Amino acid sequence: MHANASMLSYVFFSCLLLSVQAHDCQVREIMLFTNRLLAEKLQDKTSVNCSCREPTANSCLCLPIPEPGHELSCFVEGTERLMNASVTSEATTLQLLNRSFQTQLERKFCGQLSRSDQCQSKTKGNMKEFLTQIRKSYQEINKSKA
Ligand SMILES: *[C@@H]1O[C@H](CO)[C@@H](O)[C@H](O)[C@H]1NC(C)=O
Ligand SMILES: *[C@@H]1O[C@H](CO)[C@@H](O)[C@H](O)[C@H]1NC(C)=O
Ligand SMILES: *[C@@H]1O[C@H](CO)[C@@H](O)[C@H](O)[C@H]1NC(C)=O
Ligand SMILES: *[C@@H]1O[C@H](CO)[C@@H](O)[C@H](O)[C@H]1NC(C)=O
Repeated sequence: MHANASMLSYVFFSCLLLSVQAHDCQVREIMLFTNRLLAEKLQDKTSVNCSCREPTANSCLCLPIPEPGHELSCFVEGTERLMNASVTSEATTLQLLNRSFQTQLERKFCGQLSRSDQCQSKTKGNMKEFLTQIRKSYQEINKSKA
């Protein structure tokens, strides 16, 4: 019976930790996923390593770099475009990233990042620039909560 009681409190504590983590933007997970995608050697692929600032670069996969407050909706859109384009062999990582972003956006987790359901962006970036922007946004969130 004692074992059961401590087991129960362990389960309760774990759930509590998980829910706190979820409200806390899953910074660790997002960093893990984006780092994994950034570490992949894709430089030779012209569609993901091109400049989106040149209007002639039409074969370029250009993803939205969000305006403040529109981060999560743009991250959802960009991640979906990455999935559709099948440019990475890290399909599972992309799926996990998609699920984290969708959940955070739906539940309005992660305060300032999920203020808008509409992606608004003035600039576009390639895959590397998009992933770097994700890291930057979550690093800022992490810093502001520290
Ligand atoms: C988040 O902030 C804490 C405290 O400043 C730091 O130790 C940790 O490495 C940061 N995590 C990430 C993923 O940047
Ligand atoms: C493409 O990759 C090369 C090698 O990593 C890098 O030097 C270059 O700046 C990249 N170009 C763009 C437009 O990102
Ligand atoms: C991804 O592909 C699906 C199915 O073809 C399409 O409905 C959706 O609009 C695409 N999403 C983006 C962001 O391109
Ligand atoms: C992205 O995640 C959402 C929420 O979990 C899911 O409904 C959707 O099907 C996912 N999109 C793809 C392309 O897997």
